[in-house]
Amino acid sequence: MAVLEIRDLHVSVETDQGTKPILRGVDLTINKGETHAIMGPNGSGKSTLAYTIAGHPKYTVDSGSITLDGEDVLAMTVDERARAGLFLAMQYPVEIPGVTVTNFLRTAKTAIDGEAPAIRSWIKDVKSSMKDLRMDAAFAERNVNEGFSGGEKKRHEILQLELLKPTFAVLDETDSGLDVDALKIVSEGVNRAKENTHLGVLLITHYTRILRYIRPDFVHVFVNGRIAEQGGPELADRLENEGYDRFLTDEATV
Ligand SMILES: Nc1ncnc2c1ncn2[C@@H]1O[C@H](COP(=O)(O)OP(=O)(O)OP(=O)(O)O)[C@@H](O)[C@H]1O
Ligand SMILES: [Mg+2]
Repeated sequence: MAVLEIRDLHVSVETDQGTKPILRGVDLTINKGETHAIMGPNGSGKSTLAYTIAGHPKYTVDSGSITLDGEDVLAMTVDERARAGLFLAMQYPVEIPGVTVTNFLRTAKTAIDGEAPAIRSWIKDVKSSMKDLRMDAAFAERNVNEGFSGGEKKRHEILQLELLKPTFAVLDETDSGLDVDALKIVSEGVNRAKENTHLGVLLITHYTRILRYIRPDFVHVFVNGRIAEQGGPELADRLENEGYDRFLTDEATV
C-alpha cells in the first residue's frame, strides 16, 4: 500500500525583499487510492505545496519531511520523483517551444519507465486517450502548450496523467477555466486514472463543482501555509456557503 506522507513541512522562497516563509507546518498523509481536496484562499500556499512535492528549485524546504513509502522524496531530483510515481498538473502549464506533444509524451514515458514504450500499443494508447479527452488529433503535432487555450492546456495535463500512470497526482486548479463540458471530460479522465491505477490524488481547487465529479475522501482547508481544518466532502459545501472568514479570524488572533 503506497503512501505519501508530509510532516511538519516548512518552506520559504527568496524574494527581492528577503526570505519569505510560505508553508508553516503542513501535515498530510495520502494513501494510494484516496482523493484529498485542498481548498483555501488565494496566496495561502497551495501551489507552493504542489511545487515543493514536485521539486521546484525555487522553493527551499527549511524543515519537515516528504516521504513516499518511507523514501525521502526531498533527497530526490525532479526526475527521480517522477520515476518514483509523483505527478504534478500545474496551475499554469508552461509552453515548450520546438517540442511536439507526441515527442514530449514519448520522451516522458520513456524516462519514467526506463524503456521506450512498444510503438504500436503506445500510438494506440495516445490516440484513445486523446479521443476520450475530446482532443483533436492535430494537437499531437503541435508544440506543447504553444497557443493552447486555457482549457486545452488542462486537458493536455490530464492526457499526461492518463499515459504516464503515476502513483500520486497533484492537480493544481485543473478545473480553473474549464467550460462545463470540459470539466466533465477532464474529471472523467481523472476518474479513469483512479479506477485503472488506483491513483492517489491531491486536488487543489476553489470550486465544489469539480468535487461533484471527483468525489474527495477528505477535504482540507489550507490557510496561511498550513492545514487549518479537515473533514469529509460536506466541508467543501460549508466553505462554499461560509467562505474562509472563520479561519482568517482565528489566524489573526493567534
Ligand atoms: N517566487 C515567489 N516570489 C515571491 N513570492 C512568492 C513566490 N512564490 C510564491 N510566493 C508567495 O507565496 C504565497 C503563496 O503562493 P501560492 O502560489 O502557493 O498560493 P496559492 O494558495 O496557490 O494561491 P492561488 O489560490 O491564488 O493559486 C503568495 O503570497 C505568493 O505571492
Ligand atoms: Mg495556486
